[in-house]
Amino acid sequence: MVGVTDLVVYDIAELAVGPGTDEPMETIENAAVAVEDGTVVSVGDTDDVTEEHPPSAADEAHDAAGRAVLPGFVDPHTHALFAGDRSDEFEAKLRGKSYQEILSGGGGILRTVDAVRTADEETLLANLLSQLDVMLEHGTTTVEVKSGYGLDTETELRMLRVIGRADEQHPVDVVPTFMGAHAVPQGMDTDEYVDHVVEEQIPAVAEQGIASFCDVFCEEDVFSVAQSRRVLETGMAHGLTPKVHAEELAHIGGTQLAAEVGATSADHLLHSTEDDVDGLVEAGVVPVLLPGTAFGLGAEYADAGMMLDRDAPVAIATDFNPNCHSHSMGFAQSLACVGMGMTPAEALLASTHNAAEALDLPARHGTLREGAPADLVVLDAPSFVHVPYQYGVNVVETVWKDGERVQG
Ligand code: NIG
Ligand code: FE
Repeated sequence: MVGVTDLVVYDIAELAVGPGTDEPMETIENAAVAVEDGTVVSVGDTDDVTEEHPPSAADEAHDAAGRAVLPGFVDPHTHALFAGDRSDEFEAKLRGKSYQEILSGGGGILRTVDAVRTADEETLLANLLSQLDVMLEHGTTTVEVKSGYGLDTETELRMLRVIGRADEQHPVDVVPTFMGAHAVPQGMDTDEYVDHVVEEQIPAVAEQGIASFCDVFCEEDVFSVAQSRRVLETGMAHGLTPKVHAEELAHIGGTQLAAEVGATSADHLLHSTEDDVDGLVEAGVVPVLLPGTAFGLGAEYADAGMMLDRDAPVAIATDFNPNCHSHSMGFAQSLACVGMGMTPAEALLASTHNAAEALDLPARHGTLREGAPADLVVLDAPSFVHVPYQYGVNVVETVWKDGERVQG
């Protein structure tokens, strides 16, 4: 029987469907995909799919001749909601100033905190919506966005409200993470601020039900392992799932903490050891690598090869923030390949299926298998390899989100 189909994309030169049994990313040549009610209902050879779902009978038919189709990218770690400009810090870093020197001088995160505290809700919303536009142009259909530039209850709640409103208004799905423990505000001592986060901020966030995750910057001279554990355990007691910024600048034990509390992901991991990663794998924690951050800091990249050797489900993210100003998962894939030695297939898996796991999204998100959300990217190129291969170039041509054409 011929069903009513909302969308058929056919004659696809190469369709990346998701993780394969013997390869990181299974592909089908001369493929087609059919969509009903925002969900993929059929995937396979063009002749087979179009026999059941004829393009002529579909509401929308798209001839992708010569082009590759992939799942929309999932960017599982960003600080995309901010105000102000820190391009001068980019220049300072080029002249040799370190990230920590900038932060301890009241710059970095603290400077963005000043700008966000004085920005009203509508300005913040406009900022985030325009960032999401750029992400969507680059093929991202789901993104995690953290608070953490408020560092007081009122501004943290304002940020999370804005993240929720952006999710409602923009085609990109936005996953909200509370990160009150992102830095210690000026004039406060770290323990005093942790008291404030656990006693005031977390209960207020939980009461409003406006965050899914609770993240912490577990780092030398920021939040210790004990302080981070207190934040994450309080978050868990309030229904917030833990995530950890771990071993970005130094090795202090954040990866082990992530395993211990059963975090959904441990992120950065530039200084994580083999034992740390064994712990993550055992506890089912997704390692999220942020090669753009290492690139911008001039730091050594995380050891992705060591993690893949251990069958860790490595994900990558942009870490888009004022210190790492890239919206592009394609650029992250280029760096993952060139800087961290990942293959293009591993980098694509890390940007889709594994990134969805880093956000606890339901099974099949980040794939184009039957039952997956119809988040589709058509490239102006014949293979997914062109995403990392054409570095610095956006090869995304057309994007559908839940079966709706939203780009191109
Ligand atoms: O993931 N490391 C902490 N947070 C961000 C940077 C945020 C900023 O510098 O504004 C990160 O890299
Ligand atoms: Fe971050």
